[in-house]
Amino acid sequence: MSELSVNHLLGIKYLNKKDIDLIFETADHFKEVINRPIKKVPSLRDITIANLFFENSTRTRLSFELAEKRLSADIINFSAASSSVKKGETLIDTVNNILSMKVDMVVMRHPNPGAGVFLAKHVEASIVNAGDGAHEHPTQALLDSYSIRERLGEVAGKKVVIVGDILHSRVALSNIFALKLQGAEVKVCGPKTLIPKYIEKLDVQVETDLRKALNWCDIANMLRIQNERMEISYFPSTREYTQQFGVNKKILDSLDKEVIIMHPGPINRGVEITSDVADSNHAIILDQVQNGVAVRMAVIYLLASKIKR
Ligand code: NCD
Repeated sequence: MSELSVNHLLGIKYLNKKDIDLIFETADHFKEVINRPIKKVPSLRDITIANLFFENSTRTRLSFELAEKRLSADIINFSAASSSVKKGETLIDTVNNILSMKVDMVVMRHPNPGAGVFLAKHVEASIVNAGDGAHEHPTQALLDSYSIRERLGEVAGKKVVIVGDILHSRVALSNIFALKLQGAEVKVCGPKTLIPKYIEKLDVQVETDLRKALNWCDIANMLRIQNERMEISYFPSTREYTQQFGVNKKILDSLDKEVIIMHPGPINRGVEITSDVADSNHAIILDQVQNGVAVRMAVIYLLASKIKR
């Protein structure tokens, strides 16, 4: 039987193409399961998972929780706002206390880049990174590629432009790694101040003209400006950002081709995309959310099968 090359999902950086193929094949099976009248399988009845969220989240937290429930795992949830972290406890102490209650897997979102890698070195559990600061968000990139594969048949050879705040976005970095690994062509588009200096090292081209980028691509992945990660202003005003980098129906209708619009959520309607685009047939935003559950089921199932029981 095939298995993942890793014991944790810390970032797409640590995966190979075979891992991604295996996750997608497994997700195909789980997608069929969650569309049945009884949307559950007993696979992980003997596994306990802790969801540790040290940063705000709606979609990702609910998606992981649902994925775990659909696999029949036992789960405990923890959010930093109501925890002893506020009393000065360290991350390792917090997690080791939770693990002593016989927890097998930890799904963690944390504001510090590298928090998952750090934890994986210090505690005895399988770690899934649900977003570490501006670093990686591997399950988001997997569900994004899975949604492209579902819509267009495959990811290889497709042209994807990632638009917006590339500098502060973990979705951007994980998507770049995942798309390149699968043989897609990737460009980024946004204000120069929000494009990281190392971008060319990732073999990604920069296009500062949104219209040119849209005319080139098959898919545009629109990102939210990560205001919570900015201490200074990176562009003159939100209005000017939207004028240059926002996608509206008028621009899409003026292109000679159909472009698929993706967004990881939460959307700031009227900033990165207008409502008529978000709610149009161009957008596959709700498919992404639906696929998120199947992809996370696949990741958790495959990692759990590597835990010695
Ligand atoms: C993203 C995140 O948290 O990184 N959202 C998500 O997980 N669905 C993107 C964002 O917050 O803009």
